Amino acid sequence: MQRGKFITFEGSEGCGKSTQIHRLVEALRERGLDPVLTREPGGTVIGEKIRHLLQYDSEAARLTAESELLLFAASRAQLVRELILPALEAGRWVVADRFLDSTTIYQGVGRGLDPEAVRRINAFAVGPARPDLTILLDLDAATGHARAVRASGAKEDRMEAQPLAFFEAVRHGYLALAEAEPDRIAVIDASTGIAEIAAAITALLESRFPGYVT
Ligand code: TMP
Repeated sequence: MQRGKFITFEGSEGCGKSTQIHRLVEALRERGLDPVLTREPGGTVIGEKIRHLLQYDSEAARLTAESELLLFAASRAQLVRELILPALEAGRWVVADRFLDSTTIYQGVGRGLDPEAVRRINAFAVGPARPDLTILLDLDAATGHARAVRASGAKEDRMEAQPLAFFEAVRHGYLALAEAEPDRIAVIDASTGIAEIAAAITALLESRFPGYVT
């Protein structure tokens, strides 16, 4: 059995990730594939509890940057073993809404934690699950942040409450990572329309996985 492809989506808040992921999953289904969709933090029963703690728990403000890092890593470690690896081994494609690059950037760059510590914890959490392709939806921080705040209304989460400079650092961190790993990370301009972004993603998949249509 051929291993499935593992595609991850990254980007800062409001970049339109969820919309594009749902379109891609639908397009893959139309091509006869049976993709698994995951989100982080979350994606498993344990992971969703961690997500709630990280984003909305009344005590979340007390979390240190170190505990935050370990909670994201714990959620991912569970997701990898429970869902991602079994799916890939069964030949299914996995489309992930965020993966290890989110930790590299949000905790390593945004929170300023030691990049080497973040790298080692990430490696331990993901084990052999490495993305075949990462799609970075790039959008300027102010536009993205304004969109995200509008979308979540009164339910703004801990990250969305960060100052704009945090999201600017996140954006530049992502772009630098894409430059360092051009074979894995493809940058797509997320300032255009939904259909144009979707077309760019389709073209990217055709070029990276020729003949992926079953
Ligand atoms: P999202 O569901 O809108 O993608 O939000 C998830 C939030 O969690 C977003 O602000 C990014 C943040 N995050 C981290 O800080 N580190 C991580 O490892 C992950 C997966 C997400």
